[in-house]
Amino acid sequence: MRIAIVPGDGIGKEVVSATLPALTWLSDTFGLGLTYDVLDWGADRWLAEGTGLPDGAIDLLRKEYAAVLLGALGDPRIPDMAHGREILLGLRTGLDLYVNHRPLDLAHGTVDLYRENTQGLYSQVGGAVSGQGRITVAMDECVYTRDTVERFVRNCLLHLRAAGRRKVTLVHKANAVPHTGRLWQEVFRAELARVPELTGAEEYVDAFCYHLVRDAFAYEGVLAPNMFGDIISDIGAALMGGLGLACSASVCPETGFALFEPVHGSAPDIAGQGIANPYATAMCLAMLLGHLGHADAATLLRDCVLEAGHTDAATPDLGGTGTTDGFMSAVLALMD
Ligand code: NAI
Ligand code: MG
Repeated sequence: MRIAIVPGDGIGKEVVSATLPALTWLSDTFGLGLTYDVLDWGADRWLAEGTGLPDGAIDLLRKEYAAVLLGALGDPRIPDMAHGREILLGLRTGLDLYVNHRPLDLAHGTVDLYRENTQGLYSQVGGAVSGQGRITVAMDECVYTRDTVERFVRNCLLHLRAAGRRKVTLVHKANAVPHTGRLWQEVFRAELARVPELTGAEEYVDAFCYHLVRDAFAYEGVLAPNMFGDIISDIGAALMGGLGLACSASVCPETGFALFEPVHGSAPDIAGQGIANPYATAMCLAMLLGHLGHADAATLLRDCVLEAGHTDAATPDLGGTGTTDGFMSAVLALMD
């Protein structure tokens, strides 16, 4: 089985390259037979050739690879992030990775946040009118189809039930954004009725953010439309102790294909210094291994990343004095 590695830009390259030795070590030690190829999709190639997601990339991934591990995209030389949208949104929609699972590992346990990953305010439906060199009217439409909401909600509920969760909260803003809000409520209630093991709750996104910060252990599973989920996951990262810790999986439940990436971006402010935290990327690798059915390898990696995070090898964002590579060396030493 082959894994596609897309380091991307900035610290994406650093955290991914630091994590690859752990992949090789785990594959060898557990006899997983995993190999990988590094794909150079990102700002450098965009600037050199104008290529974001190369032609045939989606077919290539589908045919040749079991999963993708991605670092981050974003480069100050491309201020409008055109390459990042083409690559990231291209992968999400092209591979139909509509379930985005962002576990929030908190002191009391994990809150399973699920973000719809393909529609809503990210549908790229909209436009702008310009006059005399400035934008005078601009629109980004929030578009949801019933099919998308249904399959998303259904799959998340099944996941939560399989994980032994008892409670699930829908985040919405049906009072002020009524059309898509009501669609989500309608679908959520209908799908919930089919999963009696789960108790449902519904909360306005603003009130939810307030409660999450004050009292996160009130939540077990959370379902959110695309934009709300994006924002909530950064709040969740802050609750976890920083963006360097938060990982995510984007999955197409029908094909089983999945892409794993840290929640953080390319962090130009610290890129090139060797101090970016690879914790989230290593946790992404653990999620990837678990997704491919290698639970033992995933658990060992997870436990050792957690443990290394409490040592001096931790990077400065966690209060340590470690480096990107040094942290992963410490993880490898703990695993060995
Ligand atoms: P960011 O996540 O890159 O950085 C925010 C802050 O967190 C910075 O101060 C950074 O130094 C710190 N930080 C992030 N990850 C860290 C890590 N692993 N270790 C230590 N510190 C870390 O978000 P920002 O600055 O808003 O965006 C930078 C670029 O990344 C932009 O071009 C943005 O569009 C892009 N971006 C890409 C994402 C992706 O590829 N999925 C997600 C978010 C942003
Ligand atoms: Mg984000």
